[in-house]
Amino acid sequence: MKICCIGAGYVGGPTMAVIALKCPEIEVVVVDIAAPRINAWNSDHLPIYEPGLDDVVKQCRGKNLFFSTDVEKHVAEADIVFVSVNTPTKTQGLGAGKAADLTYWESAARMIADVSKSDKIVVEKSTVPVKTAEAIERILTHNRKGINFNILSNPEFLAEGTAIVDLFNPDRVLIGGRETPEGQKAIKTLKDVYAHWVSDDRILCTNLWSAELSKLAANAFLAQRISSVNAMSALCEATGADVSQVSHSIGTDSRIGPKFLNASVGFGGSCFQKDILNLVYICECNGLPEVANYWKQVIKVNDYQKTRFVNRVVSSMFNTVSGKKIAILGFAFKKDTGDTRETPAIDVCKGLLGDKAKLSIYDPQVTEEQITRDLSMKKFDWDHPAHLQPSSPTTNNKQVSVVWDAYEAIKDAHGICILTEWDEFKKLDYQKVYESMQKPAFVFDGRNVVDANKLREIGFIVYSIGKPL
Ligand code: NAD
Ligand code: UGA
Repeated sequence: MKICCIGAGYVGGPTMAVIALKCPEIEVVVVDIAAPRINAWNSDHLPIYEPGLDDVVKQCRGKNLFFSTDVEKHVAEADIVFVSVNTPTKTQGLGAGKAADLTYWESAARMIADVSKSDKIVVEKSTVPVKTAEAIERILTHNRKGINFNILSNPEFLAEGTAIVDLFNPDRVLIGGRETPEGQKAIKTLKDVYAHWVSDDRILCTNLWSAELSKLAANAFLAQRISSVNAMSALCEATGADVSQVSHSIGTDSRIGPKFLNASVGFGGSCFQKDILNLVYICECNGLPEVANYWKQVIKVNDYQKTRFVNRVVSSMFNTVSGKKIAILGFAFKKDTGDTRETPAIDVCKGLLGDKAKLSIYDPQVTEEQITRDLSMKKFDWDHPAHLQPSSPTTNNKQVSVVWDAYEAIKDAHGICILTEWDEFKKLDYQKVYESMQKPAFVFDGRNVVDANKLREIGFIVYSIGKPL
């Protein structure tokens, strides 16, 4: 059997590497139109940072795992074609700012239809609006040359930073297909691939629309938990309650559960906002404004949390940060990834720059080029592939410097904002940090990673999320 995956990104790369590792008899080829990305996958410096990924790729690359720009050849030869291209939020036209832009998906589907000479199972790996499979089916069967295409929805639930662990041991694999004999046969074929390492009870099979919608629903529920706890954090700050104690107290109720209740500066990442906006748009299109408004609120609270953080920094530093150096520790949207898509750091930095602060930014996995690009980009533009972006950063360089050491970022700063929960920020020598800063020395912990009381003993003024001063 031969598998081809279109899209060598955060999902396509790790997912296919794990399939290749677990299914040595299957040939897996990951293809992409972005030559630099493919070159990186074929080098010692993979295009994404993900713990454990290097090891998996090294074990099977060149044996049964290949990365190529020869998209048409490998699609034509494949029995199963995964489509894992980006599905960003539309930036213009109908549904701009909400609806999913399926341009990349549609062009992949048209190409599959054009180059295929044998029957294929086409798998939606990308996150797509419910009912996308119907449109894709129409495109695939439009130029039918006696070829059968069976479309499956197999959404991905991995989280960045833990992708390999998530793929090795998924809570579930979801496969949706048509309820016809051919549809069921296609489901069985894909199920057999995952059955190499996932137990039967964890492979859920549904109809196409349930699988497509479950992916949007899962992300909406996860993001909703964060917005709920972040909304509580504002109330904690106003009342003297401690959000960590509240999270722990409610999380011990087995109906609520302890995970995903960490208050923060706000959620980021390429999918939560995009997928909720997409869900909102689908609800609106289906005449369900109340449902749309319910989910919209999750995004609004997230935006509120980021604004609240900036306002707190400015107001506690005597209502102005103009000309003051502020160290930004962490720029990625979470630890153990170099991904900055929709990171709350972008909004926080832009907010502080708007108040004329001087920022010194350090993240162990994010380059200066990436940070500069992020700070100069318009909302929603980031998910339109980098190779299609004009690379003309316009950030005022005098206001922003990017350094490769936390102590360097902090030296002579008036305040520190911790925006990503990298482990190394817990282990800094805060006595040394304090001595190198302007006084009073402020710490704004957007991830609740430092021991605020210990820092106060040193002399810092510490603001944590949802905790008493
Ligand atoms: P990505 O931007 O990292 O990768 C997508 C890749 O597809 C890019 O390299 C791009 O060049 C390529 N591409 C676009 N059009 C193409 C075409 N016509 N032919 C060949 N290659 C093409 O995106 P990602 O983070 O991997 O996400 C992909 C999909 O998976 C999205 O729908 C996303 O919502 C979903 N998803 C992402 C995650 C995550 O953690 N990032 C998790 C679950 C689901
Ligand atoms: C999320 C989901 O967890 C995955 O299941 C899903 O496959 C993926 O989106 C997707 O569809 O792209 P990811 O965005 O990679 O994964 O990372 P998460 O661990 O979910 O974190 C998202 C954001 O929420 C981060 O900014 C994180 O710091 C924040 N977060 C998370 C909190 O602020 N508090 C928490 O308790 C948990």
